[in-house]
Amino acid sequence: EAGTYKEKYRPQFHFSPPANWMNDPNGMVYHKGEYHLFYQYYPDSNVWGPMHWGHAVSKNLIEWENLPIAITPDSLGWIFSGSAVFDSENSSGLGTAEKPPLVAIYTYHDNVKGDAGRIDFQTQGIAYSLDDGVTWDKFNGNPVLANPGIKDFRDPKVTKVEVEGKTQWIMSLAVKDKISFYSSPNLLEWTHESDFNPDWAAYGGVWECPDLFPLPSPGGEQKWILLVSINPGGPNGGSATQYFVGDFDGETFTTGQKEVKWLDHGTDNYAGVTWSNVPTSDGRKLFIGWMSNWNYAQVVPTEVWRSAMTLPRTLSLYKEGEELWLASNPVKELEQLREQSLTIEGKKIALENELLEFSLQPKADDFLATFENEFGEILLIGKNGDELFIDRTNSGIIDFKDGFASVMTAPLNELKINELKILLDRSSVEVFVNDGALAMTALVFPEHGYSDLLLDGFEAENKLYSLKSIW
Ligand code: FRU
Repeated sequence: EAGTYKEKYRPQFHFSPPANWMNDPNGMVYHKGEYHLFYQYYPDSNVWGPMHWGHAVSKNLIEWENLPIAITPDSLGWIFSGSAVFDSENSSGLGTAEKPPLVAIYTYHDNVKGDAGRIDFQTQGIAYSLDDGVTWDKFNGNPVLANPGIKDFRDPKVTKVEVEGKTQWIMSLAVKDKISFYSSPNLLEWTHESDFNPDWAAYGGVWECPDLFPLPSPGGEQKWILLVSINPGGPNGGSATQYFVGDFDGETFTTGQKEVKWLDHGTDNYAGVTWSNVPTSDGRKLFIGWMSNWNYAQVVPTEVWRSAMTLPRTLSLYKEGEELWLASNPVKELEQLREQSLTIEGKKIALENELLEFSLQPKADDFLATFENEFGEILLIGKNGDELFIDRTNSGIIDFKDGFASVMTAPLNELKINELKILLDRSSVEVFVNDGALAMTALVFPEHGYSDLLLDGFEAENKLYSLKSIW
């Protein structure tokens, strides 16, 4: 049964599926004025099951239109995570020169083999669309990458890479606890190039959902970023996404980095990757993540649907000390949802809306923003010493899973906070320091909504926007 988007806890300015279970974002590709978003989807239940690719499109990354399911399981297996590219030169031959195809590359998860105790049950397959992404046909030569006898072999993210005048497709693949890179001239035949698994990286769990893409450093030099999601082993428990800043020569990824870095320090931003084919005139690297955590995703207190995506974010590199770091900031299109802008004064502000964006200016070394209501539900966001934190121990409904009631922290290192941006959307809070230099995303389930904000350690005047619903 399709949801109304009016249900309790239903996000109002984030994407969530009409009904039932969703996890990772998949196949994000920009094409002919539309941002496509596919997602891990089980249409028959509100918990994880046989995976399909659900589908939605947006013209502005903010307002989404739901489309029919794009890719369904077949005899090779369920359709796990993957990516999509515009094969503009028809290198695959799956379209024509006049009508080049959109090509999706995903993991086949053969549950029958898996249930029979075999380990070689994940392979990579291809589907293509000749009608601008509305309907998808499977390639009749699937799988395009067979399983070499490894249990975790999945989540292909394909990027068009030009190195020294040579253009080829590069696939990043999560292989247990390393990333393998494969190359191809045509998306159909793949050659193993190299593996990446430095010994100092985070290995608390299996590696999943890689993404490899270039970004300019503040000095104008081109660097390559590798995202790797890991579950469990996140900095605040369960699922999280680490990243590596380095170089890619078309075959091998190398980095001078020596310590683990996290894309988002909150508990609820996982398996995120970037859009392909965004016009160079736009120039942004656009990212979206799954706003949940495998620790409790299947038991959060919603029924009609389960899970939403994070806000789409722009990724960029900044320098702090001698190091390059990845910033992630909500896309500027979000400003279109601002209905009303208020300058808030004083230390206690009554909240009349559940869809809010705050821009707060810290004044003291330590500060605290307390969201609360008369029922004793409290969400704390603050800085204590050299850590930023979100405390959701009394934030609302917390007892659906041990450990959900947590205090999550992020090290600030040398970062001096000029602005704290907070976005509240009924059952989520996203916190950004200095245009995304540091991000923390967390789910919260207040039974009654927060009716007041108390500010301690901030300037006397701050900014507040009420946002409109996209649904
Ligand atoms: C990450 C993940 C992927 C996999 C998908 C299955 O959340 O485990 O590795 O492809 O979810 O739904």
